[in-house]
Amino acid sequence: MVKKITVNTIRKYKENKEKFSVLTAYDYSTAKYIDEAGIDIILIGDSLAMVALGYETTHCIDVDVMKIFTRAVAKGVEHAMVVTDMPFLSYHADIPSAVKNCGLMVREGANGVKIEGFSDYILNVIRRLTETGIPVMGHLGFTPQFINTFGGYKIQGKTQEAVDEILKQAKELEKAGVFSIVLEMVPQKSAKYITENVTVPTISCGAGKYCDAQVLVCDDIFGKFSDFKPKFARKYGDMKSLIFNCAKQFNDDVKSGKFPCDDEVF
Ligand code: KIV
Repeated sequence: MVKKITVNTIRKYKENKEKFSVLTAYDYSTAKYIDEAGIDIILIGDSLAMVALGYETTHCIDVDVMKIFTRAVAKGVEHAMVVTDMPFLSYHADIPSAVKNCGLMVREGANGVKIEGFSDYILNVIRRLTETGIPVMGHLGFTPQFINTFGGYKIQGKTQEAVDEILKQAKELEKAGVFSIVLEMVPQKSAKYITENVTVPTISCGAGKYCDAQVLVCDDIFGKFSDFKPKFARKYGDMKSLIFNCAKQFNDDVKSGKFPCDDEVF
């Protein structure tokens, strides 16, 4: 039987100083293959708004959209922990609607949710979700749902004062019950300092090698999304060319009469 990754596995990774991997997925077969590859946490990131649906920011998707993608991914996963990134406005209005929306993702197969940012209200949401049995991954540093407030893709935690503030927030998230914290676009040295001073694992998204885990967007590592490439994303494949070449050969074969052949007909 396949051993399922749980919050306990994630906690143990930090205790044992073992690194773990987090990768996004948005569809059934991608989720299945990256699960087979041994990825520890599969995140249905709201980045899907940009890389799968073509929007300019992550703001344009809602709970119904995330339910569909969560269901598809969860069906493909046996081993990894499945975490759904809660979309913009799905946990901000009040605590009952936040709990309900996050609970709907668990019903679709998520084993936890990710929520962005820090405030007294967010801490209360985390406490309530944790009490409800929904593990929460926090997200600090650059938080894409706040892009309009930040005024663009801006590195966070560059000064000692700024890093102390992120550390203070991380400690509060930890106290409220998160099982891990994504640190996005934080300088490596700052992320190291935060990682060494919290007991929950930190997950780097462009925050360097000293975090306990690393997360990337699947379309970036596959070389599929090509509108832009974040500095911190490593491309492991060239799916864009693969898709182009397959489509081109099919197009040529159809037009030259080479498809279908005798083996491909009834
Ligand atoms: O939406 C997303 O994919 C994310 C991760 C990259 C952290 O939030």
